[in-house]
Amino acid sequence: MNIPDIIIAIDGYSSTGKSTLAKLIAEEYSFLYLDSGALYRGVTLHALENGLIAEDGTIDEEGLKASLPSLDLDFRTDGTYIGDRCVEKVIRTLEVSSHVSPISAIPFVRNFVDDRLHAFGRRKRVVMDGRDIGTTVFPDAEIKIFMTASAEVRAQRRFDEMKMKGQEPVMEEVMKNLLERDYIDSHRETSPLSRAADAYVLDNSDMTLHEETVWFQGLAQGKFGILE
Ligand code: DC
Repeated sequence: MNIPDIIIAIDGYSSTGKSTLAKLIAEEYSFLYLDSGALYRGVTLHALENGLIAEDGTIDEEGLKASLPSLDLDFRTDGTYIGDRCVEKVIRTLEVSSHVSPISAIPFVRNFVDDRLHAFGRRKRVVMDGRDIGTTVFPDAEIKIFMTASAEVRAQRRFDEMKMKGQEPVMEEVMKNLLERDYIDSHRETSPLSRAADAYVLDNSDMTLHEETVWFQGLAQGKFGILE
């Protein structure tokens, strides 16, 4: 099946499988996949490593603002980079996860990330996942998907994912982090997580990955009148 040159925006709660679906779509239809959350995680790692987040979680906003112009954050084929260092693994640790929501709520951080996302989006044929792609970053995206699933299913997925990466997660902590992020992401002032009015909702609590891809195929066929 052929899909025209469009932008596909996939938003939704943490651990709903946005990146898994986005990567599959990218592979199947030769789109570029962009993980916007990875950029927020990269900024968070940068802040942690430069002593800009205190023990109690307080963020040195002035220091962060001053340091961003020299932060060389980028995507390469094997993941997210800071300068020449691949940070793909370290940005997924619980330490980064537990600080990323307050960092991503800061307006100048959002501008910093949005500039990079817009630069990538210029090429079209992009599938991007995040929280505000269909509402703020690319409000004209031709296909918008809003993903959701029950908190129990999402916490279990995150738990399994961390185990597979050799980490030692504690379920209560994983669930706590998930619910905290849901709350901060949906209640922040700048670009909160919310469903765009024209987004298609996908609740995958009880769906297999195959069912999700079939769902997407049906959506694209209907949208573009593809008869295959
Ligand atoms: O998708 P993720 O869990 O890797 O995202 C990490 C954090 O980044 C998440 O808690 C909210 C934030 N984020 C955001 O505010 N806007 C986006 N477009 C993507 C992520």
